[in-house]
Amino acid sequence: MTMSRRSLLGMAAAMPLAPTSFAAPAFATPNGPQDEAGWSAIAAQYDLPPDIIQLENAYWGVMARPVREEYQRQVERVNHLSSYYGRLSYGEDHKRVKAMLADRLKVAPDEIALTRNATEALKAMIGQYERLRPGDAVLIADLDYDSMQAACASLAKRCGADLIRIVLPEPASHQGLIDAYAAALDANPKVRLMLLTHVSHRTGLMMPVREIVAMARTRDVDVIVDAAHSWGQADFTLPDLDADFVGLNGHKWIGAPLGVGIMYIRKSRLDAIGPDPADEGGHAGTIEARIHTGTLDFAAQLTVPAALAFQARIGSATKAARLRALRDRWAEAVRGMEGIEILTPKDPRLSCAITSFRIRGRTSVADNMAIARTLMEDHKIFTIHRAGVTKGACVRVTPSVYSTMADADALAAALRILVPRMAGAA
Ligand SMILES: Cc1ncc(COP(=O)(O)O)c(C=O)c1O
Repeated sequence: MTMSRRSLLGMAAAMPLAPTSFAAPAFATPNGPQDEAGWSAIAAQYDLPPDIIQLENAYWGVMARPVREEYQRQVERVNHLSSYYGRLSYGEDHKRVKAMLADRLKVAPDEIALTRNATEALKAMIGQYERLRPGDAVLIADLDYDSMQAACASLAKRCGADLIRIVLPEPASHQGLIDAYAAALDANPKVRLMLLTHVSHRTGLMMPVREIVAMARTRDVDVIVDAAHSWGQADFTLPDLDADFVGLNGHKWIGAPLGVGIMYIRKSRLDAIGPDPADEGGHAGTIEARIHTGTLDFAAQLTVPAALAFQARIGSATKAARLRALRDRWAEAVRGMEGIEILTPKDPRLSCAITSFRIRGRTSVADNMAIARTLMEDHKIFTIHRAGVTKGACVRVTPSVYSTMADADALAAALRILVPRMAGAA
């Protein structure tokens, strides 16, 4: 039997659109960051391995059970309907998911494009940046993500530009970070483009992005902001950053499935980023021309509305306050202890969930792998070592919404045992 195009379209229209199929579970919003009962109701929405204290939640975020179930439904649905879905309905669903993300980020839908992760978004904006000329320079910092540093180095090389790499101050302060970037731009007037990481994956340091972007703009320097780690961890929307180019993902702190990223380009700045080399010209003049992912995981994108609905029930300000309270609980408990360095200051503008520590004299990668291993073997606390900080490697600690104050206390107690044993001479 053959079907007319009209009847196919009619059937497609009758297919329930994915983004409307999810109802966020009804749990009460916790009554502040210390409401353990309220937060344990949220933790009950997650299926986590028993017997480990999971304080390494910065790789990607576990999906809450209802979000995971929605993802499983979408996988089955897309697989069942296959090209019938992909060809007839995905286009509309994709638009709807984009509109929801844009609404949440408080930007226009035609200023964002969906990618598979933040890497893909950032790599495209860096690699396709069109304003760099021979003799110009690109600025990066030691805390930036390694592959984004590499992308900037590759762009600079290709364009005959210099690469300037600065070391960010440690310990850092709000003004000290702005001053460090201002000094670097003053010393290197040829810089046209810089990479700025909103939240460092190495130390958790949160940059004053808005202030640095404003300062760079007065010098005609473009800033590509790496917000892979900040959206959903800290409480902000894109107008708060006021940046022209931002890469984000949904799988770290928004709790979406792996495989969802976002490229943001301010509409008036689209011309600064050239088309994706694989763009065939059909999207000319739009942000869609700046990214060509090929076939992707439809189901992951279709689960975004569920993830956003789940996050909205918690509330982004409430979530950020809880994450910061969990971080303060362990970090401020041990900050004054002999032999430990907490790598982000107490200033709430400069960190959220993630904070790294270093034990005096233990600055090698092997040392920090050993510290993380001891925390796991002796205390059942899972953390991860991080390298690439100029003053030495460290151990990163990242609570999430299902972490408890008791988890943070257990880490502080473990450090009180570990640090005196492992700290070297001052
Ligand atoms: C600072 C930073 N930038 C970029 C990325 C890459 O993000 P994605 O996994 O979305 O590609 C990460 C991932 O850990 C990161 O921490």
